[in-house]
Amino acid sequence: MTHFLTGLELDKNQALTLLDLALNIKQQPQEYSQALAGKSVVTLFEKPSLRTRLSFDIGINKLGGHAVYLDQQNGAMGNRESVQDFALNISTWADCLVARVNQHSTLKTLSENSSIPIVNSLCDLYHPCQALADFLTLKEVYGDVSQLKLAFIGAGNNVTHSLMLLAATLGTDFVVVCPKGYSPDAQIVKQAEQIAAVNGASVLISDRVEAAAGSNVLYADTWVSMGDSTPLEQVKQTFMPYQINKALVEQTGANSVLHCQPAHREYEITSEVMDGKYSKIIQQAENRMHAQNALLVSLLNPNYV
Ligand code: CP
Ligand code: NVA
Repeated sequence: MTHFLTGLELDKNQALTLLDLALNIKQQPQEYSQALAGKSVVTLFEKPSLRTRLSFDIGINKLGGHAVYLDQQNGAMGNRESVQDFALNISTWADCLVARVNQHSTLKTLSENSSIPIVNSLCDLYHPCQALADFLTLKEVYGDVSQLKLAFIGAGNNVTHSLMLLAATLGTDFVVVCPKGYSPDAQIVKQAEQIAAVNGASVLISDRVEAAAGSNVLYADTWVSMGDSTPLEQVKQTFMPYQINKALVEQTGANSVLHCQPAHREYEITSEVMDGKYSKIIQQAENRMHAQNALLVSLLNPNYV
């Protein structure tokens, strides 16, 4: 693996190995305290962040590495200088670039012009670091994730895409329940279906919440993603039937609830569920750091794997 842009870089065995490494790093942090010694990782953000920014920064520090945060003080990427020049320069000093960008094409340009690994920490189409943390959490809770049915309920988006692709890779049955007009990207669904078929799993897209019946896990994300200026109130009526609340949890029989956060309480998820006994949401947020640390160690110091 040279770059981590979509999550498709990992096959089933590689993904499972990475999750095992993440568990090991979580359980035996002292063994990895120098795994990134002498390495500098630039983290760049075109969009806001709490979890991603801090979990990378603190995680890199725990591995003995050096994190450099770069916000958009110079305006959007490509304004002050080309993305190509940006990548060529950063490659001379840093060992890795973690980038949260508006457009996936920016990541492609970065990766084509850099001699260091590029990690996608969210773009319009994917959020693969999030999916790694989500499946790390499910592995901790259930062990074998290939026996699970996972339902994403809300708007098809970057988080849906990455979760769907990793579910397909790991053999987890995946359902997306979303209002008409909010389906995930058709091409990514097709890709996921092909991968799922190889790994004995299924992918289903439906606008009926009944399709989530029998799910072990329900997953929520915001109804309006960063970069979309639509007020939440404007879509509330459309999405309210897709809210993850106590009734839906009981109706589906699920016993775990995930949310990538930031959450809008009483919109896509109720506080009752978010703070309730089935919520794994804070464990999931903690796991961002452990999953990303495993990824960085694999990319920058494979001797440790
Ligand atoms: N889940 C997630 O990526 O959170 P942030 O946007 O706060 O980084
Ligand atoms: N789909 C959300 C995820 C936030 C972590 C967004 O892109 O804003």
